[in-house]
Amino acid sequence: MDINKLKVLFTEDEIQRRIKELSEEMNKFYKGEEVYAICVLKGAVMFATDLVKNLNMPLKMEFIRLSSYNGGTTTSGKVNAVDISLPDLNNKNVLIIEDIVDTGLTAKFLLDFMNCNFHTKSTKFCSLLDKKIKRVTEVEPDYYGFEVDDKFLVGYGLDYDGYYRNLRYIGYADKF
Ligand code: IMP
Repeated sequence: MDINKLKVLFTEDEIQRRIKELSEEMNKFYKGEEVYAICVLKGAVMFATDLVKNLNMPLKMEFIRLSSYNGGTTTSGKVNAVDISLPDLNNKNVLIIEDIVDTGLTAKFLLDFMNCNFHTKSTKFCSLLDKKIKRVTEVEPDYYGFEVDDKFLVGYGLDYDGYYRNLRYIGYADKF
């Protein structure tokens, strides 16, 4: 693991600026209505905490944990719900916060889960990154920060084998 080999894709400033823009859109959309922000662990932890600090409506945070990677750089193609205990979200505004939408399997799993279990007032899906080129489902995020190419990215919550989540920027390496 050599941080010096990473190339920076989005700097801390670029990420924070984009988060401000996204939060302004959300503040307009929700017009002060209460929101349940659901952070998808572990990858979305940095993004979710920075995003909610910029939201101005009454807000509750929930955390769920899913996994689809086995420690490498490719998805297993199967989403595992490690911990998905949630309060009653009937008639609530739900904002799901993810780090990256890649194949879209995780997003689809979560949206299906919401539909099957709750009649929410609204369900919106927000992802910091959108790797549109890899999509195998029809799911699209309602909000996303940046569209990205088909590179394996790390930093700001995104990991390779558990490492790099603590970086303030998002980067990639030619080889991990
Ligand atoms: P999807 O189900 O294929 O859309 O993948 C979603 C999950 O895969 C994300 O929440 C990440 O945990 C992981 N993932 C996808 N692409 C990357 C990447 O470039 N770096 C790190 N994790 C990734």
